[in-house]
Amino acid sequence: MGGSDVSQFYELAPYYDAINDWKDYRREVDRLESLVRQLGAPPRASWLDVACGTGRHLEFLRRRHPVVGVDASRAMLRVARRRVPRDPLVLADMRTFRLDRQFDVVTCLFSAVGHLGSKSDVLRTYANFARHLNPGGVVVVEPWIDPSRFRPGTLHLRRHESPGLTIVRLAFSERRGNRSRIQYHFLVGRTGRGIRHYRVTDVGLLLARREHLELLRRAGFRPQFLSDGFLPGRGLLVGVKTGAGSGRPRDRGPSQRSQPLPTDSAGARPFWRTPPRTGVPRRRRRR
Ligand SMILES: C[S@@+](CC[C@H](N)C(=O)[O-])C[C@H]1O[C@@H](n2cnc3c(N)ncnc32)[C@H](O)[C@@H]1O
Repeated sequence: MGGSDVSQFYELAPYYDAINDWKDYRREVDRLESLVRQLGAPPRASWLDVACGTGRHLEFLRRRHPVVGVDASRAMLRVARRRVPRDPLVLADMRTFRLDRQFDVVTCLFSAVGHLGSKSDVLRTYANFARHLNPGGVVVVEPWIDPSRFRPGTLHLRRHESPGLTIVRLAFSERRGNRSRIQYHFLVGRTGRGIRHYRVTDVGLLLARREHLELLRRAGFRPQFLSDGFLPGRGLLVGVKTGAGSGRPRDRGPSQRSQPLPTDSAGARPFWRTPPRTGVPRRRRRR
């Protein structure tokens, strides 16, 4: 992650849920389940949540599905482990993990793919998702904000207050080519302990919707974009795995038409994501 101190992200993981207390994960899971059903997933679909973070989606998904979570941050998984103590959580990179099994659904949400450094990394990641899906399996990716909607020079303030804990986060957005660069300043105040200041810069890859769709096609999906996603400017990418799928990126081919899905409204939210971004472990580890 450009210019930031990775160790600070580890320190901030315990505050991830607090700063994202506005997010309605239960509602997102309801919508995801309905979407994947429409795309042919079975009612108790096996579900792999990649970049699962602190396990907020897994907490609700696990009630109706066998679930596995993957994330590259040990600190985030530590929080997830407390939330979903009995489900498999794997410390691994989304580009390279290998679970030696396939699922009915793979999700990758809250713009985690925006952390990838290049288009070829995104293609590699989508091909890896295809590798972990059964034939006809469904992928749902919530991309980072569309380049046309990204507003450099914007300030965004978020605040969390709960007994004993106050967090203020001020973010400033910049753009360099196809990279977003968001400077975050966190003030974390804890009763009886004082206030700490963290400064984190998060660099994201700005990819247009058509680029994501093309990469998903090349990875072996029949994709479509739903503009009515969870957050303004991001939407949702959904795709059905075509054929048995080797999981290898496919050559460019003629674009395949997909049937539009009905969408529903998901409430307007500010578009900043929270930054946890971590180093990539050398080998996967079962937790
Ligand atoms: C904004 S958080 C989203 C977490 C969760 N999906 C949610 O909705 O709350 C992004 C997550 O992506 C993870 N991440 C970033 N790069 C990754 C990579 N290369 N492989 C796997 N996980 C990664 C981070 O550790 C972090 O937990």
